[in-house]
Amino acid sequence: MRKTQRLAWTAALGCLTFASLAIAGGHSGGAPKGDAKAGEQKISACTDCHSAADFAGQSEAQINSAIKNVAAGGVAGHPDVGQVSDQDIADLAAFLASANQ
Ligand code: HEC
Repeated sequence: MRKTQRLAWTAALGCLTFASLAIAGGHSGGAPKGDAKAGEQKISACTDCHSAADFAGQSEAQINSAIKNVAAGGVAGHPDVGQVSDQDIADLAAFLASANQ
C-alpha cells in the first residue's frame, strides 16, 4: 500500500515537472514572445497606411507571419518597412491581435 502511494506521488510530481517545462519551453528556440504594449509604440511606423482593421479577424500567429513576409520583402510592392527584428514583429502582432478582441 505504502509503496503504491509513493509511486503515485512520483508520477504526479513527474507530471508537474513536465508541465512546467512545457510552459517554460513554449517560446524557447522559437519566436520571441510579443508584448502588445511595446507593439503599440512601434506601430506608428505602419499607421500611415494601416489600421488595426486591416488585420481584423486574424490571429496573432497569422499576423506575425504576414508581417514577417512583408519584412522579408515577400510582398511585392510593399514599401520598405526598414529593419524590424523578430521581437518587433512579435510585438506588433501581439498589439494588432489584441486590438481584435
Ligand atoms: C506607405 C504605406 C505603407 C506603410 C508605411 C506600411 N504598409 Fe503594409 N501595406 C501597404 C499596402 C499598400 C499593402 C497592400 C494592401 C493590400 O494588399 O490590400 C500592405 C500590406 C501589408 C500586409 C499584408 C501583406 C499580405 O500578406 O498581403 C502586412 C502584414 C503589412 N502591410 C504590414 C505592415 C507593417 C507591419 C508596417 C509597419 C512596420 C507596414 N505594413 C507599413 C502599405 C504600407
